[in-house]
Amino acid sequence: MIVRKAQKTDASGIFAVEREAFSVPWSQVAIQRELQNTALTMYYVLVTDRGDIAGYAGLWHVADEGQITNVAVLPAFRGKGYGELLLRVLMEAAWRVGCASIFLEVRVSNLSAQQLYRKLGYAAVSVRRAYYSQPTEDACVMECKKERYCWSI
Ligand SMILES: CC(C)(COP(=O)(O)OP(=O)(O)OC[C@H]1O[C@@H](n2cnc3c(N)ncnc32)[C@H](O)[C@@H]1OP(=O)(O)O)[C@@H](O)C(=O)NCCC(=O)NCCS
Repeated sequence: MIVRKAQKTDASGIFAVEREAFSVPWSQVAIQRELQNTALTMYYVLVTDRGDIAGYAGLWHVADEGQITNVAVLPAFRGKGYGELLLRVLMEAAWRVGCASIFLEVRVSNLSAQQLYRKLGYAAVSVRRAYYSQPTEDACVMECKKERYCWSI
């Protein structure tokens, strides 16, 4: 397995992961747009030995703030540390381009993702009511300040 920067040709592989992971997946066209907008976005992919995309993570950065757009790993590869690896690679790239703080939204029922985020240094800062659909659910907004980013081996 390797983690590398996403390329424009990765849109279909990312879309396949997206469809497995979310009830309302981004379209392949939306993903293509994200991958082209390199001034504002950064995306990393998890690639198997066979060259297939098994996960991805993305972020927007504006001035000194980052916003994680999505992180997902195919079900067969979960629980093996790859989600954490993807996020760490992404977050360290965000610190390098000048982010001082990174935000994200997560479903309030998504306790495994929240556990992952807390492990990395994120804390809940607010709730967005009915942010998600299918099913309708609140989002917990979490923030990781650069100085709170945790690195533990
Ligand atoms: C969230 C997701 C990316 C995590 O990826 P993963 O590869 O399974 O996670 P990892 O194996 O790297 O786990 C890292 C940490 O996450 C937490 N975690 C992961 N799975 C967990 C679970 N089932 N229960 C509780 N905590 C869990 C733990 O803190 C874990 O650290 P530990 O192993 O030291 O306890 C993956 O579950 C996924 O793709 N889910 C569907 C999409 C999604 O919900 N994305 C988040 C949207 S906001």
